[in-house]
Amino acid sequence: EGVTVVQHPLIQHKLTIMRDKETSIASFRRLLREIAHLLCYEVTRDLELENIPIDTPMQAMEAPALKGKKLVFASILRAGNGLLEGMLDLVPAARVAHIGIYRDHETLEPVEYYFKAPSNLEDRLVIVVDPMLATANSATAAIDKLKERGANRIRFLCLLAAPEGVERFRNAHPDVPVFTAAIDSHLNEKGYIVPGLGDAGDRMYG
Ligand code: PRP
Repeated sequence: EGVTVVQHPLIQHKLTIMRDKETSIASFRRLLREIAHLLCYEVTRDLELENIPIDTPMQAMEAPALKGKKLVFASILRAGNGLLEGMLDLVPAARVAHIGIYRDHETLEPVEYYFKAPSNLEDRLVIVVDPMLATANSATAAIDKLKERGANRIRFLCLLAAPEGVERFRNAHPDVPVFTAAIDSHLNEKGYIVPGLGDAGDRMYG
């Protein structure tokens, strides 16, 4: 309920290569961007269209175009930027919010250090992106903040989730649908997703 696991074979194949600890930083980055294209296709599948008048070289016609204000992609730094780049390849006119949050390594509590979002969040669909949903502390805090600033139509897109994180996230934000490429076995005592792929930020940026 409210959780979509995107099972496309290309996503699953690319995710397997990303999990492999021998995969280089360059490949990891490229694969995340490619998977973002495929996930973006799913998360935007039901966007509303409206007909607009245009002139083709042949004649005037009414043709479908995205309805309403531009989308917002909200990236949870740092690793969210890997997904963000791929999303922007497909929706180049999207507006972007940057939310700086890291997990305190001891307590796993989210520490916020940056927040910059476009105006009129209340009129826009906001898609929050972060490759990992572990304890869900970061995603929950990011969405608390977006809601404070007026966002009321939100989706959360990640690559990998822990079952514990999905449950906590759904309890905190039942109105926010979750899209993920996989739900792994569990969280370990350090808050890492197992089997997972390690620390996405480190694997992408070092
Ligand atoms: C990682 C990841 C998520 C968060 C997930 O970021 O990119 O933002 O942890 O964990 P949670 O669901 O338990 O909050 P990290 O704290 O390593 O920051 P970084 O991306 O800046 O390295």
